[in-house]
Amino acid sequence: MNMPVDEALNPSGSPTGLGHVAGDAVDISHGTILYLDDISVSFDGFKALNRLTLSVDVGELRCVIGPNGAGKTTMMDVITGSTRPDDGTAFFGQNIDLTRLTEPEIAHAGIGRKFQKPTVFENHTVFENLELAMKADKRVFASLRAQRTAAQLDRIVSTLETIDLLAQADLPAGLLSHGQKQWLEIGMLLMQEPQLLLLDEPVAGMTDEETAKTAQLLHSLAGQRSIVVVEHDMEFINEIAATVTVLHEGSVLAEGSMDVVQSDERVIEVYLGR
Ligand SMILES: Nc1ncnc2c1ncn2[C@@H]1O[C@H](COP(=O)(O)OP(=O)(O)O)[C@@H](O)[C@H]1O
Ligand SMILES: [Mg+2]
Repeated sequence: MNMPVDEALNPSGSPTGLGHVAGDAVDISHGTILYLDDISVSFDGFKALNRLTLSVDVGELRCVIGPNGAGKTTMMDVITGSTRPDDGTAFFGQNIDLTRLTEPEIAHAGIGRKFQKPTVFENHTVFENLELAMKADKRVFASLRAQRTAAQLDRIVSTLETIDLLAQADLPAGLLSHGQKQWLEIGMLLMQEPQLLLLDEPVAGMTDEETAKTAQLLHSLAGQRSIVVVEHDMEFINEIAATVTVLHEGSVLAEGSMDVVQSDERVIEVYLGR
């Protein structure tokens, strides 16, 4: 058998060339990147998610808010495969059934998740952190080009520009401010070229200036990829002015622009207060 290396590693023949070894590329031809339908998750009889239905468009920046215990983190756990729903369906694009994939397969399919606490390698430089993130990408290994190529160097530099850490490239990550570490971690996710980014409270603990800069960063990232961000900071959500979904007791309580959501009586009652 004399198959070209790329084809042998990628028998499904995905159009990206580098190849999604675990399966096909996500099909976004219908304009929807994420579709959760009637998802329920119970923990010892308690419904953390209760028939949750939510869909996110390609390129959208979606904010999810809601009181503590509303099910926001559980929703992200379902999307990334760390929690299995008891009921309902979860699709990435038209074709990828998230409930049938393992966590690494879901990451590999193109969903990146940032947890609240930054987890950068403090003893490595900013540059090295991005390089390590790229090498952790199975698609890069699959291409059998373990050495850094000019194209890969370009990607690292352009990511450094995106997250505004070019001047800090050679600094150990441990010396960055809290906000800069959060941006670096977003940069590390970007190195894997996710189509959908999930961010859990990205501006928690940031200064006002850092928060404003993060809003700008997310704006610049949306469009080419889709972003779902869970946040409590209403000023931040106002700044990114995206569609807001309010979760309460495991279901969608309200959805729409910030104005619509903020003037919704039920939202005021359970979340915003009077
Ligand atoms: N692994 C678990 N075991 C038991 N209960 C859980 C577990 N994970 C979450 N819960 C419960 O589910 C509800 C929703 O939690 P969570 O998704 O973390 O809410 P949020 O992120 O909106 O604050 C909470 O009442 C929480 O205590
Ligand atoms: Mg949470």
